[in-house]
Amino acid sequence: MEIIRDPNLLQQKMLALRQTGKKMGLVPTMGFLHEGHLSLIRTARSQCDILVVSIFVNPTQFAPNEDLEAYPRDFKADEQHCKKEGTDILFYPSADSMYAQNSSIWVEETTLSKNLCGASRSGHFRGVCTVVAKLFNLVQPAIAVFGEKDAQQLRIIERMVRDLFFPIQIIRAPLVREPDGLAMSSRNKYLSKEERKAALCLRKALLLATHLFEKGEQSPSILKAAITHEIKKTPLAKIDYIEIVDDQNLTPVEEIKSSVLIALAVKIGKTRLIDNQHLSFNPLK
Ligand code: PAJ
Repeated sequence: MEIIRDPNLLQQKMLALRQTGKKMGLVPTMGFLHEGHLSLIRTARSQCDILVVSIFVNPTQFAPNEDLEAYPRDFKADEQHCKKEGTDILFYPSADSMYAQNSSIWVEETTLSKNLCGASRSGHFRGVCTVVAKLFNLVQPAIAVFGEKDAQQLRIIERMVRDLFFPIQIIRAPLVREPDGLAMSSRNKYLSKEERKAALCLRKALLLATHLFEKGEQSPSILKAAITHEIKKTPLAKIDYIEIVDDQNLTPVEEIKSSVLIALAVKIGKTRLIDNQHLSFNPLK
């Protein structure tokens, strides 16, 4: 496995590899890799010749009041994981090399990013789209894998690829959970023992709503009320949002008449966690 830090060097290397007809795959990450990330890497590994994993804690997707400085990092452990999973190139750039000092071009999605996390994290998806567009231009992959853990991010990246004609196939990877149901996240490291236990309320509330839906409840407001009630049983939990949205355009639905996504963000102590669940609409039911 080769570690490359210089974006220009990476781009030259990828252009040369392209000439040889190799199929490139990319898995963008912010590091502190866990099984969720590794599942993406394995999916990409099985579908390309040259696998690039990027590790970059992208400063532009963090608002000034967020956890950029505290974000967990462990490059040595990440390097070992990437090597073990058969990564060919580990791209590990500095912030200065990715953003010129007078950098002035941004990629901004203007519809899908308005609600859910976009509403509470101002500028977040502008930072995400910009860095992912840069990574796409550096690697020029045939495929790139993103996780359904970040459902809104995934939809926005799919839209960016469509609208900007990136010749890249986006592959969706399922959300990976801890054995007790907590969605894996680098940010779980912030949780104290007590908070870790409290964090289970996200999954518990989603399962409750899924159960109600499967028993025939189709009213988003009733499902949202049930989720709210369940989460409020946990004193350490503070709800940021609970939404039931159309899984294509991410706008809230009044009735469940198509496949929807239940998306939620909850603060456990100081740590903001997200989780989601798809509900498949069956018109014959
Ligand atoms: P990061 O949070 O490190 O996640 C990198 C990728 O791993 C994303 O596609 C994310 O959805 C996926 N992922 C994280 N936890 C997962 C889980 N439990 N199950 C399945 N997939 C999971 O998302 C980012 O970084 C950044 O915004 C990035 C796209 C790299 C741009 O900076």
